[in-house]
Amino acid sequence: MTDFDDTDTTQENGTGRRDFLSTAAKLGGGAALLSFAGTGVAAADGHESDDGPTDVDILNYALTLEHLEYAFYRDALEHFDERHFEGVGSPGDRVFNSPRPRYGTYQRFEEIRDHEGEHVDVIAATIEDLGGTPVEEAEYDFPYENVAEFVTLAATIENIGVSAYAGAAPMIQNSDVLSAALSIHSVEARHAGYLNLHELRLPYPDAFDPVRTMDEVTEIASGFIVE
Ligand SMILES: [Fe+2]
Ligand SMILES: [Fe+2]
Repeated sequence: MTDFDDTDTTQENGTGRRDFLSTAAKLGGGAALLSFAGTGVAAADGHESDDGPTDVDILNYALTLEHLEYAFYRDALEHFDERHFEGVGSPGDRVFNSPRPRYGTYQRFEEIRDHEGEHVDVIAATIEDLGGTPVEEAEYDFPYENVAEFVTLAATIENIGVSAYAGAAPMIQNSDVLSAALSIHSVEARHAGYLNLHELRLPYPDAFDPVRTMDEVTEIASGFIVE
């Protein structure tokens, strides 16, 4: 079922290579992602801008990713319990055996899930404060069947999130919104570093993280969105 190869450390670049012919239809609640994908955007708050996305557009872009992240962890942790992660001989045993961090792992994932839920709530509230309409959570199809595949995909999604915030932040105009976005960006990087360790990757792979454009992230995210 999974499209991911455990040995492929560049997989986050490959998740978007599914069938995107019906991207717009699939995005559904994430449709705002596409509203500023080109130039001369139709802003989410109703006015046309030739200068790029408005802060509300960018916040809805971030909210689309945060909905995806929160749903990813929420649904997985409803499906898996602590024994799946830490029990000897469990599917997660292969993932978390020494030298990987093993104990307390399930709780770390619960904390990451809660962070994503807080990101969703704060960004949605900010969009409303700015007079915009927050996008709704979409329907997702995450390609994992066991804890090992779930953790691999978690690392991929968090690294995508880091690159997405880095790509969008320079376009934010309101300094308060920028400050909030940067404080979320660094938390996503901490999530990514923690999860990289589980994948036996360096938590800090390079001196500079990759930056992805909204178009690139939209294409990757749409691979997980059913409608
Ligand atoms: Fe997040
Ligand atoms: Fe995250």
